[in-house]
Amino acid sequence: MANERFDALISQVRKGSSVADIGCDHAYVSCKLVQLGISKRVYASDVREGPLLAAKANIQKYGFSEYITAHLADGLDGIENFAPDDIIIAGMGGELIARIIDKSEYVKNCNVNLILQPMTCTYELREYLLQNGFEIKNELLCRDSGKIYEIILCSYSGISYTAKEEFLHIGLKTHSDPLFREFVLKKIGKFEHIAKGKQLSSTECDYEYTLIKNLKEMIGEEV
Ligand SMILES: C[S@@+](CC[C@H](N)C(=O)[O-])C[C@H]1O[C@@H](n2cnc3c(N)ncnc32)[C@H](O)[C@@H]1O
Repeated sequence: MANERFDALISQVRKGSSVADIGCDHAYVSCKLVQLGISKRVYASDVREGPLLAAKANIQKYGFSEYITAHLADGLDGIENFAPDDIIIAGMGGELIARIIDKSEYVKNCNVNLILQPMTCTYELREYLLQNGFEIKNELLCRDSGKIYEIILCSYSGISYTAKEEFLHIGLKTHSDPLFREFVLKKIGKFEHIAKGKQLSSTECDYEYTLIKNLKEMIGEEV
């Protein structure tokens, strides 16, 4: 179960908390939480039967049935019956994560931490969180199999915020991360690629140019 991404997710879980692992797939994160002694009460759920069967098999294989309950559920449906302190939603698209959060009243509680790891649409997820009263408390970057992943720790405060465009793209709390410079350079490369494509089709690309300039300034690169 060695995996930098799992370790980074787990590092944001409060020790001794009850945890929901939404979209658990093989329940590797759930099992690791128990194995490391971080949680003794885990709810592992998935919307599909196949992953849930794999999760149940792993839970049994590791002998963790006493600590982890596996459920077939769509997102956070019925989560109030388990009442977790910390909720992990990882390995899905950012828009799907936002939809799952949006459907749940349970998460509108300042004591409940959400640990999110979007695979795509990180901008859209941050925008959703800030506009809908979720405070981003921490963010970290991790590299796994050559790819950099973004992890967001947040909880409900009821206060809506806006953030500058570049922060919605790269995160509000990633600056001190050891991978920050490399991560921003990758983002700059992405926007340069988009701008080049737009230029070729004579489409206006001021948005990308402004972003590239601001991101370069942020990491002390020549503009
Ligand atoms: C790529 S896997 C990620 C597994 C694990 N969370 C991780 O980070 O490695 C995504 C899982 O999310 C599940 N999923 C997708 N939509 C879901 C939903 N609405 N509710 C619960 N699970 C969902 C899929 O069935 C799949 O098993």
